[in-house]
Amino acid sequence: SNSHRINIAIDGPAGAGKSTVARLVAKALQYIYVDTGAMYRAVTLKALESGIATDDSEMVGRLAYDLDIALLPGAESQQVWVNGEDVSDKLRSHEINRNVSYVARIESVRNRMSELQRLMAEEKGVVMDGRDIGTHVLPNAELKVFLTATPRERASRRFLELGPDAGISLDQLEQEIAERDRLDQEREIAPLVQAADARLIDSTGLTIEQVAEEIVRWSLEKAGTI
Ligand code: DC
Repeated sequence: SNSHRINIAIDGPAGAGKSTVARLVAKALQYIYVDTGAMYRAVTLKALESGIATDDSEMVGRLAYDLDIALLPGAESQQVWVNGEDVSDKLRSHEINRNVSYVARIESVRNRMSELQRLMAEEKGVVMDGRDIGTHVLPNAELKVFLTATPRERASRRFLELGPDAGISLDQLEQEIAERDRLDQEREIAPLVQAADARLIDSTGLTIEQVAEEIVRWSLEKAGTI
């Protein structure tokens, strides 16, 4: 039978194209896409809204456990609901970009998010993107991909996305990306690192479609052999 469902972990640094690629792969395989970064962003949003300092581990940890976070697969992108409110459009702000690494460093927050993410993957057929999916959340994922691109390439993609009116220069974006990489790689708990059994794709100079096609090919190979 060709109906074996597998779990696919896609990890890598900010701006490597993980979410777009993951969404395309999920669509091609009719799998569920789970954007784990959006969960850390949702906790960050709520902390900022409640006036909690994003580096206050105790308060942010408690907040993370109290929040009811639900991910709903949408037509274009995934919807994120927190305590019954659709917060999807609020998660990409500059303020959240600047604060999310601090929230993502907190052990109790990571434990809670990992627990929710494992539940979502229980039935298989999930494409999950993040930083620690192949290493911590789903160490038994049948396919693991580590997706990178040079910081310059990632900054230019983001620059194109934001447009020149955003008032932020390419150099500034590159610096912010490098800083977020550093925080993600140097944190103590579940840092950003390629899993030993992950396949590396450097997407510099590749289109999103080329990357997605490669991953779909690998997935079909894997799904056929288990
Ligand atoms: O993928 P993203 O840019 O939406 O992720 C936002 C932040 O969340 C990023 O700085 C790292 C963190 N993150 C994490 O620590 N673990 C994950 N599985 C996903 C995201």
